[in-house]
Amino acid sequence: MKSLFTVAFAFLAFCASLFASTAAENALAPLTCGDPSDAVPWYFMEVAGQNIYYSTAITDVTNLVGDLAYTFLGIAVRVFPTQERSTVPFFHLQNDQTSDNIYTTSATARELALEEGWGDAGIAAYIYTSQICGGVPLYSLYQSVDTIHFYTINATTYDAMLAGTGGWADLGIAGYVLNLNPCAPD
Ligand SMILES: *[C@@H]1O[C@H](CO)[C@@H](O)[C@H](O)[C@H]1NC(C)=O
Repeated sequence: MKSLFTVAFAFLAFCASLFASTAAENALAPLTCGDPSDAVPWYFMEVAGQNIYYSTAITDVTNLVGDLAYTFLGIAVRVFPTQERSTVPFFHLQNDQTSDNIYTTSATARELALEEGWGDAGIAAYIYTSQICGGVPLYSLYQSVDTIHFYTINATTYDAMLAGTGGWADLGIAGYVLNLNPCAPD
């Protein structure tokens, strides 16, 4: 009894850890996948109705929330801070006029945005471009009235935004990231 309890407790402790990895993430890891234990939180901030910003840097959270009146909304997903097996750069572009932020794996989309005058904000993270290694779809939407790009792995949120009256357009899947909760079903 005692050892069973110990094992059950250890499992719960594992699942309680944000940075633990799932069986699916680990299964193919040695061959084709990034090391899920290297993944870091992608923090999510907004100025309601105006601007949304994601970053792996805690300094962005303290700067933006402290100085620029952003609200910290939590951790959106997990991403890789450096390039790992099967991942590609997730480019970040920022519009100086509207403060809108684009995140894209497409070098072509990045070039187009640069030609249109968007600022190059570097590489936000590294992610997968197909559903491998326990990755989940990161849906992207755009609202042209307030010029806001939005990214979420929550299919319920995504469907509700598209069905709602907020004027959100579907930009499809931006890439595949790691689930926020490693113990959620894949
Ligand atoms: C997804 O979004 C819905 C609607 O906001 C929410 O009720 C649900 O808890 C979210 N699911 C997850 C896994 O966060």
